[in-house]
Amino acid sequence: MRIETLRWVNNHLEMIDQRVLPEVFEYVSCHDGIEVATAIKDMVVRGAPAIGVAAAYGVALEALAKQDESSRTFDESIGLVIEVLGKSRPTAVNLHWAIQRMKNQWLAFNETLSQADKAMHLLKLAHEIFNEDIVTNKRIGLHGSQLVVNNSRILTHCNAGALATAGHGTALGVFRSAAESGKKITVFVGETRPFLQGARLTAWEMLEENIPCTLITDNMSGHLMSQGEIDCVIVGTDRVAANGDVANKIGTYMVAVLAERHNIPFYVACPLSTVDLEVATGLDIPIEERAAEEVTGFGDRRWAPLSVSVRNPSFDITPASLVSGLITEKGVIFEPTKYKISKLLSSGINE
Ligand code: MRU
Repeated sequence: MRIETLRWVNNHLEMIDQRVLPEVFEYVSCHDGIEVATAIKDMVVRGAPAIGVAAAYGVALEALAKQDESSRTFDESIGLVIEVLGKSRPTAVNLHWAIQRMKNQWLAFNETLSQADKAMHLLKLAHEIFNEDIVTNKRIGLHGSQLVVNNSRILTHCNAGALATAGHGTALGVFRSAAESGKKITVFVGETRPFLQGARLTAWEMLEENIPCTLITDNMSGHLMSQGEIDCVIVGTDRVAANGDVANKIGTYMVAVLAERHNIPFYVACPLSTVDLEVATGLDIPIEERAAEEVTGFGDRRWAPLSVSVRNPSFDITPASLVSGLITEKGVIFEPTKYKISKLLSSGINE
């Protein structure tokens, strides 16, 4: 089954509302770039590659919406939307990577082009970024599925699936590709407090795909590992520093430490657009801090005392030393280092 997380319909962008899945399956429509930025901020769409693709469409939508305005309004609107989209979420670097590609295209326009033509070129590039993401994820899936042994029990955290990308998924793309190649796997899904991306989104995706899965709360993973019930861990990532340190959903670091303690391989599915050579180590990656209400309750239900003080960092850093391999579209970087990452980045595609 193909999950259309983002779709371009009648000159606007539609996105599955991931705040209400799996209870409600519905699309939210965006007609300009500011609406896309709001949808990213509000978590209608989430997951590093998906927010990058959505932001690219956001720039194109803004150009389409303002193509009949004066050249000053047209340029100012695009400049503003690029800024607003760039601030919508801080940790995932794919967002900035996609916006930068759109900005470079915009800056390179020949002034003889009409605004309508500029808008069409921006839309074409957004479609390209969308399509490239699916191709990348399928390559990650093929490389990653070679690491998966038949009958594996694999733990994942958060949602790095079709819902987090333009399609197929990164970590969940590995599960899809392994299942397609005939391997039997069971996916253990960490619930992923506080936003429940595992319980709500990954469990839903695996059920849609008929891939056997078992939901656990985040504090059960150590016990299952100690009982020999987990064979490997595969997660996604929001940003990888030049030295191989990995930012991913809060709780990932804890799983990586436990995996090392139990000699279980810990892999990170990582499109190369997620590697940020401008940050030397994970210490330099900005960590989003989200609202206290996500920790004190869920939805309309509050269970913590009103006056309690709360922390809600949404991501953590897993040091490269705990990562068995980065599964990229160009192949797997085992025990990643700065040298191995930069070598792979400058090499051709390894099909
Ligand atoms: O806060 P979210 O839901 O956007 O966080 C998503 C994750 O942490 C994913 O694991 C990561 O973006 C990789 S998605 C392919």
